[in-house]
Amino acid sequence: LSTQVCIIGAGPSGLLLGQLLHNAGIETIILERSSLDHVLSRVRAGVLEQGTVRLLEEAGAGARMHAEGLPHDGFAISCETDIHRIDLTQLTGGKNVMVYGQTEVTRDLVDHRSQTGGITMYEAADVEPQEFDTAGPYVTCKIAGESVRIDCRFIAGCDGFHGASRRSVPETAIATFEKVYPFGWLGILADVPPVSHELIYASHSRGFALCSMRSNTRSRYYIQCNSDDHIEAWSDEQFWTELRRRLPPETAEAMITGPSFEKSIAPLRSFVAEPMRFGSLFLVGDAAHIVPPTGAKGLNLAASDVHYLFEGLRSHFLDSDTTLLDAYSERALSRVWKAVRFSWWMTTMLHRFPNQAPFDAKMTETELAYTLDSEAMRTALAENYVGLPY
Ligand code: FAD
Ligand code: DHB
Repeated sequence: LSTQVCIIGAGPSGLLLGQLLHNAGIETIILERSSLDHVLSRVRAGVLEQGTVRLLEEAGAGARMHAEGLPHDGFAISCETDIHRIDLTQLTGGKNVMVYGQTEVTRDLVDHRSQTGGITMYEAADVEPQEFDTAGPYVTCKIAGESVRIDCRFIAGCDGFHGASRRSVPETAIATFEKVYPFGWLGILADVPPVSHELIYASHSRGFALCSMRSNTRSRYYIQCNSDDHIEAWSDEQFWTELRRRLPPETAEAMITGPSFEKSIAPLRSFVAEPMRFGSLFLVGDAAHIVPPTGAKGLNLAASDVHYLFEGLRSHFLDSDTTLLDAYSERALSRVWKAVRFSWWMTTMLHRFPNQAPFDAKMTETELAYTLDSEAMRTALAENYVGLPY
């Protein structure tokens, strides 16, 4: 087989890149390790920046998002018993975010790809990028036990944090930066109306909590948990009790509870690999970087990487100009590091760190109090939350 761009991974970044290239008349094949059912069953992120919304529109996959997604003009931060609103629209000169689940984004992209005749090969085992230090790279894998080779001009590694792409680069060619946080997030989905029509990020002496949603009838709630907690040890009853304890009393009283139909624990980590290009291989999204979920940046960063890579590939193939492609790693990383900083700052400010020194705990408390009091700080928070410009 041969194609112009072989994309590894059918998560949001691989599917979005694939659709933008397809629309520009550039051929792609996507290789995905999992089954389609598995790809469509993952839950994960929920908040889209305007840049991400624009890219989904540009891909031609924005119709259901506009019909069913919930535009949010602000969110709340609670601090023990007080609650403060961050007015995103007022603080950013009119910007907002869209609450629409990653599961739905993925479904819309999968559907659009199949309607427009794009090729995705699911359940591809042992995917390996090969010879990417040359102008004749290829990707090998096994499909239903048969060896497959795909020759291409470029390889896009969109295969997430545990994928094959970053691992195929020699260690000496890559620098990595990492911070693992000493806690996780326990998240549930339940078909109960959200406690508030806007998200609430809760800082509390018992630990962080987040009230989010997927629709007006489906809630997504998270609580900070220990890194070594086991999911079986958290019944729905215990989850709801602990969530209520971390919210202001009026909010806790208004909370409607019900059975969860999804429950999982995610570790929190910041990670960046530099550079994001190795010859004909490009790393995109979680394959190159991970942020803790607190600022809702993971999926949005994947989308901005796709934007930079798409621009580069388009001008390479359509205008024979490699300037933007050569600038991919630098352009993407400059925005990545700012989102890494923001996610780290939000995480540090809103969570309780085990065994924190009393001075450090005071600094965290004061950081939050100052952020809530100061319009300059709230403006900086809002400008990052809605997404820095591309
Ligand atoms: P992925 O979504 O990871 O997609 C990678 C794809 O590549 C997958 O389909 C995978 O099956 C495939 N793949 C992997 N290895 C191979 C291989 N060897 N060969 C072929 N295919 C392969 N972000 C937020 O903003 N808010 C959140 O609440 C949030 N929660 C999260 C919870 C969890 C448990 C995780 C893991 C992430 C969460 N994120 C969250 C981050 C966000 O989901 C990611 O940033 C986003 O999914 C990145 O998209 P991606 O396409 O780059 O990677
Ligand atoms: C969601 C996740 C986040 O990390 C966040 O900051 C906001 C919302 C969510 O899953 O809804």
